[in-house]
Amino acid sequence: MHDDDDVTQKSEGFATQQLHAGLGPDPATGARAVPIYATSSYVFDSTEHAERLFAGVEPGNRYARVENPTAQAFADRLAALEGRPAGSAVPLASGQAATTAVMLTLAKPGGTWLVSDQLFGGTASVARKLLQPFGVTVRSVAPEADAIAAAGSDDVVGVWVETIANPSGHVPDLPALAEAAHAMGAPLVVDNTWGAGGYLCRPFEHGADVVVHSATKWIGGHGTAIGGAVVDGGRFDWAAQPDRFPAFARRDVHGRTMRDRAPGAPLAAQVVDLGLMTMGMTMSPHTAFTLLQGLETLDLRVQRACDNALALAQALGEVEGIEAVIYPGLEAHVSHATARRVLRNGFGSVLGLCFASEALARATIDRFQLVSHLANIGDAKTVAIHPWTTTHASLNDDAKRAGGVTPDLVRLSVGIETVDDVLADVTRAVQAAREALAAQPPGSR
Ligand SMILES: Cc1ncc(COP(=O)(O)O)c(C=O)c1O
Repeated sequence: MHDDDDVTQKSEGFATQQLHAGLGPDPATGARAVPIYATSSYVFDSTEHAERLFAGVEPGNRYARVENPTAQAFADRLAALEGRPAGSAVPLASGQAATTAVMLTLAKPGGTWLVSDQLFGGTASVARKLLQPFGVTVRSVAPEADAIAAAGSDDVVGVWVETIANPSGHVPDLPALAEAAHAMGAPLVVDNTWGAGGYLCRPFEHGADVVVHSATKWIGGHGTAIGGAVVDGGRFDWAAQPDRFPAFARRDVHGRTMRDRAPGAPLAAQVVDLGLMTMGMTMSPHTAFTLLQGLETLDLRVQRACDNALALAQALGEVEGIEAVIYPGLEAHVSHATARRVLRNGFGSVLGLCFASEALARATIDRFQLVSHLANIGDAKTVAIHPWTTTHASLNDDAKRAGGVTPDLVRLSVGIETVDDVLADVTRAVQAAREALAAQPPGSR
C-alpha cells in the first residue's frame, strides 16, 4: 500500500485518482470496492514478526487504534488528491481530531501558534481550552502576510489559516503567507476543508507545509459521516530546529527519530503517534468506507455545487429583502482577485446572505422548505443556518464581527439540486417572511 511503484499514484488526473488511488482491488479477496476491515487486531506470523512491527523496522498492521487498511486507503486516496504519495496522510475521527492532533504535535510550553482571526470556532476552542492552559501562547492575527510577519518571532511553532474563511469567504494569499511563515522558521498549516479534498485548492502547490481536512463536509458529501485527515507536505525541515520542534528530535528506545522512521512524512508519523496511538482519535473502517464513496464523485459534486453557488450568488442579489450576497466568486468580494490565483475550478459553494434585518434573516430560515435548516456545510443538499445564534454563538460579538458574522446573516451551503428549485425556495421564503413581518404590529417587529 505504501509502495512508490503503485501505478495509481502515477496517474495525473484528479478524476482518476479519486477513484483509483490508495488501494486497487483488494489483495486478499479481489473485491473491487475497498472492503471494510472490521477488526480490532491482526494475527502476527511469528514473535519475530510482531517484534519487528512494534519496533517500527517493518511496516504492517499491529492494532486497529493505529492501523486499519480501510482507513489507510481513504487517507492514501486523499493524499493523492493533495498531490502527495501514499503514507503522507493520517485518517482521524473528525476534522476536530485532525486539528487537535496537529496543534498539539507542534505545541510546546512557551511556544506560540499564530492563528487566523477568521477561524472555525472548533479550532479556536482547541486554542483556548487545550493550548493556552498548558502554557502555549495563541495569537490571533489577520490572515495577511504583513500582519503575520509583524507578529513573527522565533518561538512561533506554526501559522494556521483556512482556505476560505467561514462565513466571510476571505481567501488568504497562500504563497505570500507561506513566505512570511518560512521567513520566521515556522510551517504554514492550512485547514483545507473548504478546498474540497484538493479539487478547489491544493495548498502544497502554494507553499503550505501541512494540510488539515474535515472530511465531514464536501469529501463525504452526503451528510452521513464525521471524519478528518492530516496530510504532510513532506518539505518542512523540522529537524533543523530541535529547540523549536523538540518532538522531532526525540529518539525512541531504538535511538531513532520520527524522520528516521518516516523520512518522507515525519509530521504524519508524529500525528499517528500522538493522535492515534496516544489519544485514540481513530477513524472507524465503516466511516472510511462511507467517505471513500464520497471521494469517488468528489469533482462532479463540487463542480455542480460551485456552479450552482455562483448562479445563486448572482440571482439572489436581486431579491428584495436580501441586501448583499457575500461570495468570493463575485467581483465585488474583497478576496476575488486572490481567489482567482489560489483556487481552481470554482469559488466554493457557501454564500453569506445579508438581510435587511435579523428578524427577516431568521423568519426566512423558518420558511425554507427545500433548503434544510441544520449545522453543516458541504452536503449534497442545500443547507442553511443563522451563524450569529448557533455556530458562532460562543464567540463574543467583536470576534463574530471580525469573522464576518453579523445578526442579519444567513449562511447558505449550496448543494447539487436543480439550481432553479433552490432559487425558487429561497425567493419564496424571503417573500413569505417579509409578508409575515409586515403583518405584525409595528412594535413587535
Ligand atoms: C473549516 C473547518 N475545520 C474543521 C471543522 C471540524 O470538522 P468536524 O466537524 O469534522 O470535526 C469544521 C467543521 O465545521 C470546519 O468547518
